[in-house]
Amino acid sequence: MREDMMKTILADMRERIDPDLMEQAGQILKKGGLVAFPTETVYGLGGDALNAEASRKIYAAKGRPSDNPLIVHIADMEALAPIVSEVQEAAGKLAEAFWPGPLTMILRKSDLVPPSTTGGLDTVAVRMPNHPVALELIRRGGGYVAAPSANTSGRPSPTRASHVMDDLDGKIDMVLDGGDVKIGVESTIVDLTEDIPMVLRPGYINLEMLRKVLGEVRMDPGLHGNDPAFHPKAPGMKYRHYAPKADLTIVEGGEGNVKAAISELSAKRVKAGEKVGIIATDEDASFYRYGIVKSAGTRTDEITISAHLYSILREFDDLGVTVIYSEAFDSPLLGQAIMNRLIKAAGHQVIHV
Ligand code: TXA
Ligand code: MG
Repeated sequence: MREDMMKTILADMRERIDPDLMEQAGQILKKGGLVAFPTETVYGLGGDALNAEASRKIYAAKGRPSDNPLIVHIADMEALAPIVSEVQEAAGKLAEAFWPGPLTMILRKSDLVPPSTTGGLDTVAVRMPNHPVALELIRRGGGYVAAPSANTSGRPSPTRASHVMDDLDGKIDMVLDGGDVKIGVESTIVDLTEDIPMVLRPGYINLEMLRKVLGEVRMDPGLHGNDPAFHPKAPGMKYRHYAPKADLTIVEGGEGNVKAAISELSAKRVKAGEKVGIIATDEDASFYRYGIVKSAGTRTDEITISAHLYSILREFDDLGVTVIYSEAFDSPLLGQAIMNRLIKAAGHQVIHV
């Protein structure tokens, strides 16, 4: 074992929240250490957001570029005002509608938040997660927890504690195991520092839900990807995140066409000696004859698909799969978020059939 390795404590909070272990976790944060914890979206890698040294440790543990800012997690509405220059009316309305929940707001920061937490920006990302373990940790850890997703930079975000251990064991102090997450894709990010509120990252809280509360809301034109004239505003969205080791291609089009195309492509690649993985749904997983077929969930309940997507990418990595074909998921509620992550994981390789 290397000398700079530390012992990572894995604390089981699946059945009940153990107050002694939670207190220990809170103390670790207060002393500048790192604790990974469950949220309703993905697991986060937490450190004290007001401690510049703790933020630096987060970047080091993940291998994350230091210009990519962190989200500050809070547990109570009273915690918001001290870290921002002003709580706008729109922020109050969104908090009322969606917090605690899978929504992150970008606001102008106050001097309390160190530049190392915000990647040097004068804005700060804030979220109140909807998970009892997360909320308890934030309260015991001083009220402000900076937390990116708890994966090694470039790997899919963790949706269960074992994913965190696979990536960060020996690099962080503690992992709180809260079982599998519910949503499986990261929070929606909405920027309130623009004249018209702008979605920087799609998530469970979709455009229509935001418009009901705020009126006009637009998508970041940089999100759609291939046009070099537009860069995504959230620094993290420019990286090829969530990348599996295999070469991933999304197949999009009419249902019958998609199944036929994936069958043909996978047969060809298997015969050529490739190890092929297919991301399918309960409705059609049994249709495929070649490759390792994994169903993300059912098209009649989209959250089953978002909840399993990242763990399937990790399983294919572990199996040494070299080629992956995925059906497209154009579902009404979570479709934007799921396709945004899949398209990035695929490095924009999409076949239309
Ligand atoms: O669901 C989530 O949001 C999870 C859980 C743990 O809460 N966290 C998460 O954090 O996904 P992370 O670090 O993996 O993604 C944060 C994203 C990055 O794309 C980053 O560039 C963007 O938020 N971001 C953070 N602060 C920002 C700011 N001030 N302005 C623009 N984008 C910001
Ligand atoms: Mg992340």
